[in-house]
Amino acid sequence: MSPDLRTTYLGLELANPLVPSASPLGQRIDTLRALQEAGAAAVVMPSLFEEQIEHDEFHLVGALETGADSNAEALTYLPEIADYTSGTDAYLRHLEATVRDLEIPVIGSLNGISLGGWVEHARRIEDAGAAALELNVYFIAADPAESGAIVEQRYVELVEAVRARCSIPLAVKIGPFFSSVGDMARRLVAAGADGLVLFNRFMQPDIDLDEMTVDPELHLSEPDELRLPLRWIAILHGRVDCSIAATTGVHSAQDALKVVLAGADVAMMASALLRHGPAHLATVLHDLDEWLAEHDYDSVAQMRGSMSQQHIPNPVAFARANYAHLVTGFVSPYDWRMAEPEGELRA
Ligand SMILES: Cc1cc2nc3c(=O)[nH]c(=O)nc-3n(C[C@H](O)[C@H](O)[C@H](O)COP(=O)(O)O)c2cc1C
Repeated sequence: MSPDLRTTYLGLELANPLVPSASPLGQRIDTLRALQEAGAAAVVMPSLFEEQIEHDEFHLVGALETGADSNAEALTYLPEIADYTSGTDAYLRHLEATVRDLEIPVIGSLNGISLGGWVEHARRIEDAGAAALELNVYFIAADPAESGAIVEQRYVELVEAVRARCSIPLAVKIGPFFSSVGDMARRLVAAGADGLVLFNRFMQPDIDLDEMTVDPELHLSEPDELRLPLRWIAILHGRVDCSIAATTGVHSAQDALKVVLAGADVAMMASALLRHGPAHLATVLHDLDEWLAEHDYDSVAQMRGSMSQQHIPNPVAFARANYAHLVTGFVSPYDWRMAEPEGELRA
């Protein structure tokens, strides 16, 4: 009998733990269909951004005011108003069409950082038929004068505000940069999050030495980036009362297995699917199924969290562990201890 791959995420019953995360893959219905065909259990739509919503609303107000001031000619502005709102409206129309077209649950996504009118769109995403909402708080605490406590409080208030505006399940996607990830996780759950998506992958700018510019380029992830979410999922499993999704670095079935063993309910994928196309998900699903069968697991439920921090014999492995021992015992590929000291060092 083949293993039972079913999982529950945000109260949604899913056929397996593989979910394409928010990315341009969600922009086209045919790509979304291909992902469903490949076995995706649900899909997260690309985000509707706070900036996009506020830009649309700013221009809508501007256009309406201009129109009101300009007598009969005002009518000619109407097409422009339609254009101005196309970002937000097009998103909601695309979401509606996707929900109608796909059989799997469709999760909407809002992305922003401040308390403002844009959070009303949580309700619009619900009205468009989304099965759940993911709120991505992509905040870089770049002001040294702002305390961690203020930044954290802003997260909590934002989650409360979004929670108050919709009744579908709410997941919150956060980064790893908190003094206490666990405390923050608990506060977000208390504020109304039904799930946590760990972790946002922040774009790290680089300096281009030829052009002398700062390069904000977007790079796809590598599998070794999995270790950061893996650790925190293992630490949080069984300690926060919510669903957990892993994102960042899930490229293969092995990666998906690791995050489920650590305690994730779903393994989300973006970079690997952007690199290899939707059919890659079918390969991952096949390999996942095969691994479970070969290792005598009856189900994903049976393995979930079995290697979380609370379930392994050596829980410090996920904490500071034998850090001092590892660092002092590290053997460099180049054995510098055997090399002759040179120059000043010798003197
Ligand atoms: C091109 C691109 C666009 C993305 N757009 C969004 C987005 O709109 N909203 C969001 O929450 N995350 C977005 N992400 C982040 C992904 O959902 C995911 O969390 C991140 O890429 C890490 O997962 P990965 O290692 O599987 O790529 C985007 C990522 C990429 C590469």
